[in-house]
Amino acid sequence: MQKLKINGGISLSGEIDISGSKNAALPIIASSILSSSCLKISNIPKLHDVSTMIELLKTMGASYTNQGDYCLKIEANNLNNHIAPYHLVKTMRASILVLGPLLARYGKARVSLPGGCAIGARPVNLHIDGLRKMGADIQIKEGYIDAKVNRLKGAKIFLDPITVTGTANLMMAATLAEGKTIIENAAIEPEIVNLGECLQSMGAKIGGLGTRVMSIEGVDYLGEADHEVIPDRIEAATFLIAACVTKGSLRVNRVRIDHLDSVIDLLKRAGATISFDENHIDISLKGAIKPIDFTTNPYPGVPTDVQAQFMVLNVLAEGDSKIIETIFENRLMHVLELQRMGASINLDKNTAYVKGVRKLSAAPVMATDLRASAALVLAGLAAKGETIIDRIYHIDRGYEEIDQKLFQLGAKVLRLDS
Ligand code: EPU
Repeated sequence: MQKLKINGGISLSGEIDISGSKNAALPIIASSILSSSCLKISNIPKLHDVSTMIELLKTMGASYTNQGDYCLKIEANNLNNHIAPYHLVKTMRASILVLGPLLARYGKARVSLPGGCAIGARPVNLHIDGLRKMGADIQIKEGYIDAKVNRLKGAKIFLDPITVTGTANLMMAATLAEGKTIIENAAIEPEIVNLGECLQSMGAKIGGLGTRVMSIEGVDYLGEADHEVIPDRIEAATFLIAACVTKGSLRVNRVRIDHLDSVIDLLKRAGATISFDENHIDISLKGAIKPIDFTTNPYPGVPTDVQAQFMVLNVLAEGDSKIIETIFENRLMHVLELQRMGASINLDKNTAYVKGVRKLSAAPVMATDLRASAALVLAGLAAKGETIIDRIYHIDRGYEEIDQKLFQLGAKVLRLDS
């Protein structure tokens, strides 16, 4: 298992390019199942989860060709196997995203139930209920979701709570259903809009994309498309916070600024100086960090995927703050590791009360999930001395070459094979 060794206390400086979004790339790759032709996707990040999704499609009979470094052409027109096996689903919950497309295109799917997760129970009941409303016969047997249907039929579906992959699955399923599907209380995350635009260029009829009510008129087939994945707003946010926790100065390139409103607002409240152009952001933070209270919420609120990273900023602030996590019930595991580095944080259910301690001390720590490990990297960059982060496979699931990117910005980061 690899570890990351960070010699912290160095202010980051320079420029960095943001990669394509993991959470947009995954459903877009799954959407290739819907096409009767092929799907060309560009700006695909080189991440472990992306490889797992491609591997999953390959086991079903899809073929793909690399079209340059970050571009892939997938043909999933003649799948001969409609199973998402446990050994792949257990490593990546987003495998559930093949359920809707398989049912819509092939009328059958057998997808392993994802099970629990480090950050919460994360059930998929809304995916299943929605597909049942569309006429699918779904049984849960031997840990698998067994689903079949002649052709899905349009339905009215209300999602409560708002679910990102649930919206993606049902939207994809509805594109080939007979008649109109209305999805109420739909997710409006940029990744959903990016997926919807991909489906539209394949020929799908989707109205209300990016609003809470989507209306999808099913069509008989979807064709060829050429689509670009949006930049990863969570990776961008993590680098912006990295500039602040190290009191550095960065230019973050290849970002969609309009996807980062809530993040930029928090950074400014923390004392960062920010300016931007069409697709880059310049950020620096000199002087004291101001504590910021925030609550995570579905887009356009503060993303749960940056809660851990912003907590590190608050730990280093002058003053106290309160963070409320509302999306997942167990997404504060990083607190215990940050405490080992000198953070003063009290937990009351899903609220973290942070007392700013201005500096952290280096320590050996353990990554527990993807964004928690990003927070530990930020803490390691800020703390003087040597921090060793164990189990960094978590971070490789969602951050492309994070060690090399940080090295490029002047950080002393080394990947160790243990
Ligand atoms: N929920 C249900 N029933 C369902 C589906 C969801 O109760 O059928 C609940 C969940 O338990 C949770 C809430 O709804 O409490 C929201 O979960 P959601 O379904 O939106 O999460 P997700 O789609 O599984 C995606 C991202 C996550 C991100 C969340 C929230 C992907 C592949 N994953 O997960 O990303 O945190 O939306 O924005 O898009 C990450 O990248 O680190 C990550 C965890």
